[in-house]
Amino acid sequence: MTHNDNKIYGVAALFDNPDKIIKAVKKVKSDGYKYYDVNTPYPLHGMDEAMGLRPSRLGYVTLFFGFAAAVFILSFMWWTLAISYPLVIGGKPYFALPAFVPITFEFTVLLGVLSTVIGMITVVFNLPFNSHPLHDTEYMRNVSADKYGIVIESADPLFEETKVRGYLKNLGAFFTETIYEPEKETYKIFQPKFLAFLGVIAILTSGSTYVTLNKFMYLTPFDFMLNQKKGSAQAESNFFYDKREMRTPVEGTVARGYIPYAFKGQADPKEFLSNPLLPTMKNLQLGQKKFLTYCSPCHGYYGDGDSRLRGQFPAGRTLHSARVIGFSDGKIYNIITNGQNVMPSYAYQITRNERWAIINYIRVLQRAQNPEPSDFTDIKEINKESDKNVPN
Ligand code: HEC
Repeated sequence: MTHNDNKIYGVAALFDNPDKIIKAVKKVKSDGYKYYDVNTPYPLHGMDEAMGLRPSRLGYVTLFFGFAAAVFILSFMWWTLAISYPLVIGGKPYFALPAFVPITFEFTVLLGVLSTVIGMITVVFNLPFNSHPLHDTEYMRNVSADKYGIVIESADPLFEETKVRGYLKNLGAFFTETIYEPEKETYKIFQPKFLAFLGVIAILTSGSTYVTLNKFMYLTPFDFMLNQKKGSAQAESNFFYDKREMRTPVEGTVARGYIPYAFKGQADPKEFLSNPLLPTMKNLQLGQKKFLTYCSPCHGYYGDGDSRLRGQFPAGRTLHSARVIGFSDGKIYNIITNGQNVMPSYAYQITRNERWAIINYIRVLQRAQNPEPSDFTDIKEINKESDKNVPN
């Protein structure tokens, strides 16, 4: 490296063991030098103390950016979710702090860490900086191998080249070196060759990107799903005679697996369907399950009309009235399918089979409140059995 003989950066000295350098540094400090630095092949215990280094101020950078990040992201979430585009999510308040804690935490850590690293590299180490005067000196070659060195910089008020050299020799240095500021090097970057090179690179990258994204990706067999041939519901069609993309079912046909309800929308048709399901244990269990899911919120667990949605929806009626007991299964099926007044239709939630199973289960609930003597025979039998087992 060429250097500027007129401008001295400092005087460097090498010592051959840690004890010597620590002693020397202590002396340099107590003699009042302020601008000096130490280079060792590995961190030395006690060096911070000997140099009188204060704790790093980098922590304040982290604190500032971390705190700013927390404030920013919290207000950002508050603004987006409570002001700009309020959405109710799971019934939570717009500004649901607990849900925002993880994001706030992550963002605080992210910005804190990034600012620390960037701050350390740029502000503290002054990087990118590749023409430090110590580069490529005998001194640096030694301290990055197995020697211990100190540099007293020319910025120090006590600095005087010959005096400092002698002073460091006296402290036990086996080698001293005067370090000069490097010559300012200037490069002509805008040479025609370089510009041509840049031009070629630009054409190659943009050209290949264009070809890849606009031609290559569209060659068979590649294609984007977005480009498939399909009709969208509300679009105009040039194919069908009625100019509609969306087709209506062919008249007189029924979709596979779908049986239309004969009394759709009729509150009181003259005749009803009849229950195709037997009240077997399996059917009743299915009916109970579906009843508890779909009917009990408004009609109560046992069909007494004790709604759990009181205050939110008109309470369902009791299913134990003489009226409902008198309903045919088909009539109840019609109510589930079409709804009745404020009670909505459950045709979409509950399959046909499940509707009939629910009705069987309602019959069981009704019978349980109006038992017939024969319903007790089993219990009598059971009691008889258990009486036998009671010891006299
Ligand atoms: C969202 C609440 C709600 C749910 C869920 C609900 N119902 Fe109803 N149901 C009502 C209301 C309210 C009425 C009274 C409607 C009226 O004013 O005619 C009613 C009426 C009825 C009636 C007629 C009672 C009568 O006296 O006219 C029957 C039968 C019935 N529901 C059965 C069911 C069955 C079976 C289910 C489950 C598949 C069910 N309901 C689910 C609210 C509900």
